[in-house]
Amino acid sequence: MTQRKPLIAGNWKMNKTCAEAMDTARTLVSLVSDVKDVEVMITPPFTALAQVADIIASTPVELGAQDVFWEDHGAYTGQVSAPMLVSAGCTYVIIGHSERRQYFNETDQTVNKKVKAAFAGGLAPVVCVGETEADRDAQKTFSVLDKQMDNGLEGLTVEIMANAVIAYEPVWAIGTGKTATPLQVQEVHAFLRSFLKQRFGDGIAGQIRILYGGSVKPGNAAELMALADVDGALVGGASLDAEIFSKIVHFGKA
Ligand code: 13P
Repeated sequence: MTQRKPLIAGNWKMNKTCAEAMDTARTLVSLVSDVKDVEVMITPPFTALAQVADIIASTPVELGAQDVFWEDHGAYTGQVSAPMLVSAGCTYVIIGHSERRQYFNETDQTVNKKVKAAFAGGLAPVVCVGETEADRDAQKTFSVLDKQMDNGLEGLTVEIMANAVIAYEPVWAIGTGKTATPLQVQEVHAFLRSFLKQRFGDGIAGQIRILYGGSVKPGNAAELMALADVDGALVGGASLDAEIFSKIVHFGKA
């Protein structure tokens, strides 16, 4: 079986001033300095990216952004491009988070444009997919995920996909304290892996990391990370506190 290095990513969402972000990053760097077999990444708000980049430079902690626009530059007030994110020190970018789909008109088509722009700019996209509670209740989980994957990854080549990360975030588990059960998580991750196999072949599908997100906490991290097709976590609320996030990075063991 392919060895995939787990990725534990912290999505800070719209939280933290520059000073707060730098403070959290400093604490996190010291708490995860012993970690070798896990990749750690944080996504502060745009405003704090460059300052956090300075703090985590020459540490194993990596930097990501929470969104990207698909054009490189131009008259697009309020938008931030992939080259700008790279210049601020990012290596990753989250794309298609359900909050962006819900509040900011993100669609599978805009996700696709953003994923292509991220790759073109040298960023690894963390592509988010997930069903709502209504979808799950109506037995539409797999058809919804299939559509999000199919449209979101449309036109991408096998070579480029080697650097992609997929994040499964059931909308009903985000910020609710309701974690999907290990059975539900593994079932969906296996489905996503088989989608990737069919689309991109066994080799690449075996390399792509599929993260779980939705109320991940120190107390449930070990159980979730032990699942065969779970290769890390995308953590919201519990990533805002460096000590709690560090416990998740240590799979609840420290
Ligand atoms: P919570 O961990 O707060 O449920 O958020 C998950 C999430 O949306 C990460 O992107």
